[in-house]
Amino acid sequence: MLHRPTLSTLARAVVVFSVVGAWAAYSAPAAPAAGDPKLGAAVFKAKVCATCHKADGSGGVKLTGNPTPNWKDPKTWADPKRKDADAYLRDCITNGKTKSGMVAWGKTGQIKPPDIENLIAYIHTLAPPKK
Ligand code: HEC
Repeated sequence: MLHRPTLSTLARAVVVFSVVGAWAAYSAPAAPAAGDPKLGAAVFKAKVCATCHKADGSGGVKLTGNPTPNWKDPKTWADPKRKDADAYLRDCITNGKTKSGMVAWGKTGQIKPPDIENLIAYIHTLAPPKK
C-alpha cells in the first residue's frame, strides 16, 4: 500500500513534465518572434535612427529621394503599402531604400533579425493610438 501514492505522484510528474516539454517545443520556433519595444528603443538610439527619423518618429527629413515617413500621422499607417505594416517595416529595415538614403541594415549585417523585430515593435509605439 505504501508504494501506491508514490507511483501516482510519479505518474503525475511525468504528465506535468511532458505537458511543459510540449509547450516549450511548440513555443520555441515562433517565426518571427514578436519584438520587445524596450530593446527596440535601445537599438533605435544606438544606431542613430533618430538622425533621419527624429526621436519621436515624425520624420520629414529628405536626403536624396523620399523623405522619412511621419510615424505620428495616422495617414502614414493608412497608406495601402503599409497594409501589412510589419512586413513593410521589416522589408525596409532589412533591404533599405537606398535611393532615399535608408540603409539596408539587415542585409549588411548591421542589425540582426531579432533586433529588427524589436525595432518594429518600437516603431509601433510611436504610432498614434488606433481609434
Ligand atoms: C540616413 C538617414 C536614415 C537613417 C540613419 C535611418 N533611416 Fe530609415 N528611412 C530613411 C528614409 C529616407 C526612409 C524613406 C524611404 C522611402 O520611403 O523611400 C526611411 C524609411 C524607413 C522605414 C520604412 C518606414 C515607413 O513607414 O515607410 C523604416 C521602418 C525605417 N526607415 C527604419 C529605420 C531604422 C530602424 C533606422 C535605424 C536603425 C533607420 N531607419 C535609420 C532614412 C534613414
